Amino acid sequence: MSPRPIPEQLPADLFGRRDCDRAVQVLDAVASARLKWTTIVNRRDVRSQVDDRRLALVVTERRIEAHDQDVVSLRLEAPNRRELPAWRPGAHLDLELPSGRLRQYSLCGDPADTRAYRIAVRRIPDGGGGSVEVHDALPVGTPILVRGPRNAFPFAVPGYGSSAARVHFVAGGIGITPILPMARLAQRLGLDWSMVYTGRSRDTIPFLDEIAGFGDRVIVRTDDEHGLPDAAALLPEVGTDTAVYCCGPVPMITAIADTVREMRGVELHSERFSPPPIVDGKPFEIEIADTGEVFEVPADKSALDAILQRRPDRPYSCRQGFCRTCKVRVLAGEPEHRETVLTADEHAAGEMLVCVSRSEGGRLVLDL
Ligand code: FES
Repeated sequence: MSPRPIPEQLPADLFGRRDCDRAVQVLDAVASARLKWTTIVNRRDVRSQVDDRRLALVVTERRIEAHDQDVVSLRLEAPNRRELPAWRPGAHLDLELPSGRLRQYSLCGDPADTRAYRIAVRRIPDGGGGSVEVHDALPVGTPILVRGPRNAFPFAVPGYGSSAARVHFVAGGIGITPILPMARLAQRLGLDWSMVYTGRSRDTIPFLDEIAGFGDRVIVRTDDEHGLPDAAALLPEVGTDTAVYCCGPVPMITAIADTVREMRGVELHSERFSPPPIVDGKPFEIEIADTGEVFEVPADKSALDAILQRRPDRPYSCRQGFCRTCKVRVLAGEPEHRETVLTADEHAAGEMLVCVSRSEGGRLVLDL
C-alpha cells in the first residue's frame, strides 16, 4: 500500500516552522519507499542526506541527565545566537572534539528550538575516548565545530511518510536520544504511540523526568527490577500496521529484528551506535606501507580495530561504513568492500573504508 503523499505544508508546529523544506520532503519520500517492507534502516541507507556544512558553536549549558552522573547533555548555540539549520527527529551532529576526534551524537532537544542543539553523551571509560572528552573537556563556553545536522534515522510520520497506523518506540539506555524527539513529535501530533524504555537500572537511564511527561504511554523497564527483557517484553501489543523505531545496544536490536521478521505488517527502523556484527569474517593480514609493520586482522575484528591498536590516533567516526572518516588507500592486495558509499572510481583508485571492509584474501598493504 502506498503511503499518502506528503503535503506541501505540514502542521505549523510540527517542526517549529511552517514551511516543509523541499529536501526534507524528498527524504521523506525516500524513507517511505523503504518502508514497504520490514527492514533495518541504518545510517548507511540514507547516506545521500549527508550534509557536511561546518558550524562554529559554543557550549552554553551542561546538565547531568542520569542519577549515576554518567550522562551529560550539552546545549550548543551559535556565538551570536543566530538561528541554526533545521533538523528533524532522528538527526545527529558530527562533533569535532578539541583532540581532533570526530564523533556523532543524536540530537535530543526540540526541533522547534531553532537557536540551539542538544546532545547527550554517556561516559564510556573504556571506549574510544570521545565520550570521556565530552564529559571532561567541554565546559560551558567551549567553542566547538560541528557538521550537520544529518538525518540517517528518519521518522516517517504515520499519515505523512508512513502507511503504519501506530508507532512503537524501543529505547535502550542512551539510545533514548534519537527516540525522544520522535516521541515528542508523536505526542504533539496526537499519534497512537507507545514506548518501552529499558536499561540496567533507573539510576543509569537518562531523561526520566522528561519521559515522565508522557504518562502511561511509556513503560520503563529496568534489568534490576524486571530482569533482562526478551523481545516480547520490548514489543508489547505490537501488531499489524505498526512501525517500530528502535535504538540501543546491538543484542537488543538483533532480538527485536528477529522477532519482527516473523510478524506481518510490522515495519522496523533501528539505529545502533556500535559497529554491526562481522558476518563471515575471515582473518587477513595488513602491512603498513611506511613502516613495513605486518599484523593480523582476526575473523571477528574489523581492520579499523586492528589498526587502532597500533595507530590509536587514526581518525574514525561512525564505524558503520557511511561517514568515510576511516578511508585509507590500498597500495597492494584486493579489498572486499563491505560498504556502499564509495564509488566504483574510488574503489578503482584503491580507496577502502577500514571500519567495515576486509580483504578478499591475502595481505593488504595500506598507506595510512
Ligand atoms: S568510520 Fe565511518 S566509514 Fe569508517
